[in-house]
Amino acid sequence: MSPSFLAKYGPWAVIAGASEGLGAAFATALAARGMHLLLLARRAELLRSVAERLRASSKTEVRTEVCDMARSDLPRALKALTSDLDVGLAVYNAAYAPVGVLVGQSIDELLNVVDVNVRGPLIFTRTLAPKMVARGHGGIVLMSSLAGFQGAPRIAAYAASKAFNIVLGESLWSELRPQGVDVVVSCAGAIRTPAYAKTVDGDAPGLLDADAVVEETLNALGRGASVVPGAVNRLARFTLGRLLPRRAAVAIMARSTKELS
Ligand SMILES: NC(=O)c1ccc[n+]([C@@H]2O[C@H](COP(=O)([O-])OP(=O)(O)OC[C@H]3O[C@@H](n4cnc5c(N)ncnc54)[C@H](OP(=O)(O)O)[C@@H]3O)[C@@H](O)[C@H]2O)c1
Repeated sequence: MSPSFLAKYGPWAVIAGASEGLGAAFATALAARGMHLLLLARRAELLRSVAERLRASSKTEVRTEVCDMARSDLPRALKALTSDLDVGLAVYNAAYAPVGVLVGQSIDELLNVVDVNVRGPLIFTRTLAPKMVARGHGGIVLMSSLAGFQGAPRIAAYAASKAFNIVLGESLWSELRPQGVDVVVSCAGAIRTPAYAKTVDGDAPGLLDADAVVEETLNALGRGASVVPGAVNRLARFTLGRLLPRRAAVAIMARSTKELS
């Protein structure tokens, strides 16, 4: 447990998208740091098993709530779920990432990307940040992706939504820092999660375990607006973002997304 982390970002953390993969890893790491948790996702059974595991292994209070981040009444729902909690840390991890060329995707699928990956984090931060500002300390984590730095064919809407999160996070980092609230955008490369296993065959270069991504992300809070977890991913970011022309970066992304299913 880290007393300074708890003092700054505790006592409660809310994680949107916490039933498996990276979100469950955030829950595990935050429970180990002594935080109480409100875990949100759509699948009740998975949420329940994450919560039971954490209650058994820590003294943490864990609440779970089935909540689709695309629901139309999300502002009201989030307000109601957190009204009696002193939330010091908000982690937006949920994402929707349909694979395929845009013209083959339905408008509903594309709008769900906007709802979960764009509207969701906007409402989430707008709802939870004011109380942190009022008490003068807190933290916000937005999960983004290396795909958000340039065009990424076959995951165009997802990549664009992750670009939104990078710019949103950087903006909020600057707005909220003087008020004592740390914001970090985690621009992850490939992460070993159930969602990753469903879309990718084999291990992509720079693939990280979820725990490693969580650790680097939480440690980056208060140290800058964004973090790219993993040395291989930082090298990829430097090469694609600084050394190569943008069209070459898009071509490299196209090669790596060709195998996604
Ligand atoms: N995995 C990677 O290789 C990778 C790479 C770069 C960035 N990222 C980013 O890292 C984050 C986590 O990715 P991931 O691979 O762990 O898994 P994921 O399948 O993207 O889902 C993560 C969690 O979000 C929940 N979720 C999905 N849609 C939701 C919705 N509409 N409402 C509420 N919860 C929802 C899922 O639970 P339910 O289905 O139970 O709702 C799950 O608990 C995402 O933001 C992703 O963009 C991942």
